Amino acid sequence: MDSALKQRQEHQSGHQNLQQSPAIYKDILETDPELERKCILQSDALYEYILETSVYPREPQPLKELRELTANHPWHVVSTPADGGQFLNLLIKLINAKNTMEIGVYTGYSLLATALALPHDGKIMAMDINRENYELGLPVIEKAGVAHKIDFREGPALPVLDQLIQDGKYHETFDFIFVDADKDNYLNYHERNIELVKVGGIIGYDNTLWGGSVVAPPDAPLPKSIRAYLDYVLEFNKAVAADPRVEICQFPVGDGFTLCRRIS
Ligand SMILES: C[S@@+](CC[C@H](N)C(=O)[O-])C[C@H]1O[C@@H](n2cnc3c(N)ncnc32)[C@H](O)[C@@H]1O
Repeated sequence: MDSALKQRQEHQSGHQNLQQSPAIYKDILETDPELERKCILQSDALYEYILETSVYPREPQPLKELRELTANHPWHVVSTPADGGQFLNLLIKLINAKNTMEIGVYTGYSLLATALALPHDGKIMAMDINRENYELGLPVIEKAGVAHKIDFREGPALPVLDQLIQDGKYHETFDFIFVDADKDNYLNYHERNIELVKVGGIIGYDNTLWGGSVVAPPDAPLPKSIRAYLDYVLEFNKAVAADPRVEICQFPVGDGFTLCRRIS
């Protein structure tokens, strides 16, 4: 690891960052170490089996480096897990995506998984309110030779999407959009994404099983932040399941993943 990267990583891992982190991460980290588990599977052994058999041996070196770097960051539990990255990487290739978008970058694991899968002239418009975390992973992305594919936009994603729609030229231009950010806006993102993704294009939403809380009894002792966003996740899941503009598939990779294929 080069020394600038190491310095930044040491700076980032200071506890003061946790104080500044959104309440959601702080609460999850402090009240539920169980959520360190990166997968919705209720068997650690089975998840380890998947990682050790099929994921880690095939994980590209830059992703491994970024994963290890992120592990030292105080919010690391929110990073896309290695099996999620592997899934995204393969999906991008399967659909021959070229023009993509990502909402919710953090240190860039899913971003790098996407960038590595795209052709040399592929593009990712990436949005996050926090540039500092993106810049933590950026040296690894640069070293991997894929930084030229990324157009990072700092700030809340919703106004950026509205601007893209207003511009007109982005209408139905994206092959793939990945959403992994504020759960209370998923439905707002969905309405805009539908206008931006091509017919036949894919929108992927992460965390749609929300730590398994979607089936928790009403009196279950959930971390405050899980409880706070649960209704949004439930409402989103119900809405996309009934949305005739998309075909969907929800499945238990990572924290629950929903793929939507735009059909009209
Ligand atoms: C779960 S993390 C993303 C993880 C990332 N996909 C990865 O591979 O590690 C969620 C990210 O969404 C960002 N975020 C939260 N609210 C946002 C908003 N309104 N607009 C854009 N990004 C937002 C947070 O700063 C955080 O980095």
